[in-house]
Amino acid sequence: MLPGVEAACQEYNKLASTYDRKWRAYIDATLRAIVEGGQFQGQERVLDIACGTGELERRLLSHWPNLFMVGVDVSRKMLDRAAAKNQSSRVAWVQAEVARLPFPDQSFDHAICANSFHYFPSPAQSLHEIRRIVRPAGQFVLVDWCDDYLSCKLCSLWLRLTEPAFCATYTLRSCQSLLEQSGFTVIHTDRFRAGWLWGMMQIVCRRN
Ligand SMILES: C[S@@+](CC[C@H](N)C(=O)[O-])C[C@H]1O[C@@H](n2cnc3c(N)ncnc32)[C@H](O)[C@@H]1O
Repeated sequence: MLPGVEAACQEYNKLASTYDRKWRAYIDATLRAIVEGGQFQGQERVLDIACGTGELERRLLSHWPNLFMVGVDVSRKMLDRAAAKNQSSRVAWVQAEVARLPFPDQSFDHAICANSFHYFPSPAQSLHEIRRIVRPAGQFVLVDWCDDYLSCKLCSLWLRLTEPAFCATYTLRSCQSLLEQSGFTVIHTDRFRAGWLWGMMQIVCRRN
């Protein structure tokens, strides 16, 4: 495991028992954008990268119960919380890091990554790996903090000094160009606030 990934794993193993309660409003605001914008026929295979406590799985499966979802995360304790909350046979949980996904090429119709891209020490390698497991013309949705907001930029500077797991945040434009260099075509972008502090971006793209 890369050193940054090890730090994220340790941090989230500690946070797992309080994460949903502590971050409820933030989780609602950020995952709502994905659920409301979801364009599923109903039976697709969806990979949720850095799934945490499985809130996205719970929400998407309540709208589209025939999806098949896999949640992948480095933290065993976050995955244990996710499994305890989601008993559906339409979801599976896998412990792995984004840069080494244990799935065959093109095995998912959609991939989603929410609130986690800032932890990835090698963003290009991570996007390359995400592209590998999505089928051609499949969709990838990324939601994360956005450096276009001053509050977020300042927060990122602070986290860089104080938080060993934190890696980097991006402007919408720089993230878009990372995605394009990694073989995705951006089809929709949005910026929104989650509370007064967090400035967010959502990028919907298609695998070339
Ligand atoms: C802020 S939580 C977000 C959880 C969930 N996606 C959500 O929006 O509620 C970040 C998650 O990223 C996971 N994570 C961090 N780095 C990772 C990596 N390199 N590979 C896989 N998961 C990672 C952490 O373990 C944690 O569960």
